[in-house]
Amino acid sequence: MSTRERIQTPYLSPEDELDITLRPRRLEEFVGQSQLKEQLAVAIEAASARGEALDHVLLAGPPGLGKTSLAQIVAAELGVAFVATAGPALERKGDIAAFLSSLEPRSVFFVDEIHRLPRALEETFYPAMEDHRLPITVGQGAGAKVVTLPLPPFTLIGATTRSGLLTTPLRDRFGIQARLDSYSHEELAAIVTRAARILEVELEAGGALAIARRSRGTPRVANRLLRRARDFAEVRGDGTVSAAAAEAALALLEVDELGLDRLDREILRAICERFGGGPVGLSTLSVAVGEERDTIEDVYEPYLLQLGMIKRTPRGRAATTHAFAHLGLAAPPASASLF
Ligand SMILES: Nc1ncnc2c1ncn2[C@@H]1O[C@H](COP(=O)(O)OP(=O)(O)O)[C@@H](O)[C@H]1O
Ligand SMILES: [Mg+2]
Repeated sequence: MSTRERIQTPYLSPEDELDITLRPRRLEEFVGQSQLKEQLAVAIEAASARGEALDHVLLAGPPGLGKTSLAQIVAAELGVAFVATAGPALERKGDIAAFLSSLEPRSVFFVDEIHRLPRALEETFYPAMEDHRLPITVGQGAGAKVVTLPLPPFTLIGATTRSGLLTTPLRDRFGIQARLDSYSHEELAAIVTRAARILEVELEAGGALAIARRSRGTPRVANRLLRRARDFAEVRGDGTVSAAAAEAALALLEVDELGLDRLDREILRAICERFGGGPVGLSTLSVAVGEERDTIEDVYEPYLLQLGMIKRTPRGRAATTHAFAHLGLAAPPASASLF
């Protein structure tokens, strides 16, 4: 496999393929995040008018909120090529050189999970981002010398679920920095309504809202729940995703009325019951529920925090009275109710 193949050929599951089918292609199809869309629209129009590459863009936020979609949309709106890779796939300086030197001018170079870029490679990006050049060492030992490779102008779009892990020098080199917020129920209903049209699913307004309410503010989750509701409606109903069909389908998946699934509840139950309401460290919690620490931190915790079910404390995660109430447990011990 060539370097390029190694870095560019991700495995696609059927669910991933559906993600691609449902991906909005243009800014106007991208629901919500209106402030960010306007900010990007202005920057795109200005850069296009000047015939320049768009400034580098950093998109931060939990998985499934539309970072990859937005990066592709930016390339489409600019009318330029989109070249994608991910932080962990870039291992050597040569990997970056191979990518950057072969870009068409003004292309979008998308680096997903940019916080997982090896530290040693981060510095390679600085001169590339700042003035389109890449110093590389050729030869070895005493004969080694540094030559500067000129690069075409390009736009680096970095996506991260953990902007806190990015070093300040790297973050500072992004002229446009944005955090994607979780979506409202109305926005999620609009997203599944659009998806239903593409998938040719009969979706009633009540069904869309029932799905939206249980989608934890996340479009990817909303689209996934729509597909499960469609299965249910086709097999156990008349094919129409009504509110009742959506609710029955999601009950079968053990997704409750707040959108919490079984693992969310296991996390809460562990904190409340096994650790007396907490605080408990993430690693301990991860062992207790048998899920990877990163998954808990990136996927589960943000929504539990947003719902006010848990709190972050210097000594770990603590359950709030809401968590106890949601699980139908007796009032928390006095120490936990302090949080
Ligand atoms: N704002 C949005 N409007 C419509 N659909 C969206 C939006 N954001 C995300 N989606 C849907 O959710 C899926 C996941 O989005 P993606 O861009 O892959 O998220 P991320 O890269 O942040 O994990 C997309 O395939 C798309 O179907
Ligand atoms: Mg993505």
